Amino acid sequence: MTLLSVRDLTVHHGLLRAVDGLSLEVEPGEVLAIIGANGAGKSTLLRALAGLNLPTSGTVHLGGRDITRFPAHKRTSAGIALVPEGRRLFRSLTVEENLLTGAYRKRPGPWSVERVYELFPWMTERRRQNAAQLSGGEQQAVAIGRALLSNPDLLLVDELSLGLAPVVVRRIYQVLPEIVAAGTTALIVEQDVSQALRVADRVHCLLEGRSVLAGRPAELTAEQVGHAYFGIGDTVQDGAAKDAAKDGVVRDGAAKDGALKDMEEGRH
Ligand SMILES: Nc1ncnc2c1ncn2[C@@H]1O[C@H](COP(=O)(O)OP(=O)(O)OP(=O)(O)O)[C@@H](O)[C@H]1O
Ligand SMILES: [Mg+2]
Repeated sequence: MTLLSVRDLTVHHGLLRAVDGLSLEVEPGEVLAIIGANGAGKSTLLRALAGLNLPTSGTVHLGGRDITRFPAHKRTSAGIALVPEGRRLFRSLTVEENLLTGAYRKRPGPWSVERVYELFPWMTERRRQNAAQLSGGEQQAVAIGRALLSNPDLLLVDELSLGLAPVVVRRIYQVLPEIVAAGTTALIVEQDVSQALRVADRVHCLLEGRSVLAGRPAELTAEQVGHAYFGIGDTVQDGAAKDAAKDGVVRDGAAKDGALKDMEEGRH
């Protein structure tokens, strides 16, 4: 059975439609990556799935159960855990104390503090250190461990690699297959497009709150992804969105070059 089913989801921030009639499905055991330019609505989508932003319309089903109106704590109990953008650890608490905050609404399942230490062996020695003393990559690992401790069926990670050195990113992604093998499905927002295409079973590209391209990385060309990302060409149906995205490309030329270069490097 489909693990997560999102239908026609619309989420507003005030008057702004940040997620706009978006539909997607996540199957158990897969890694789905969400890519898209700044402001595309990636974080709003994840926050809406975690119950931190309530949708204006649309539905969210988890394992066939309608959780659209569930508040955040009930979503944790239902099996969704979010690693938020910026990690949000308690800086004055130790590594282990941070991990244990994730066990507050623990469901039965494979993840325990010990199991997280097996996933990230360096944590054992540093479990009594304050989170403030950790590097960005170490903090991200603790944030992932904390989320796993609720034993989610679906792990949401916002900007997994943002601000981290490539070697650190590789190390964090190395554990993803182990997380999935333990029975946790992953939906990740990844700003590094080539990284997303390498690790994901399927990718959705968001543009102005809509999913404008979806598929398996092997089935998508760099050109398709580039067009969807920047809102140019045929992938985008809506003329207004297309024009706005073109403006965005002009404003955001450096980001465009960087992302396209990443894509090319990732695929050749
Ligand atoms: N709390 C908020 N209040 C008002 N507008 C918001 C709020 N959060 C996000 N937005 C707006 O909603 C839109 C989508 O933002 P969101 O953070 O979901 O995008 P994103 O794809 O995660 O972007 P980024 O890549 O920069 O993280 C943007 O136009 C943003 O300015
Ligand atoms: Mg974001």
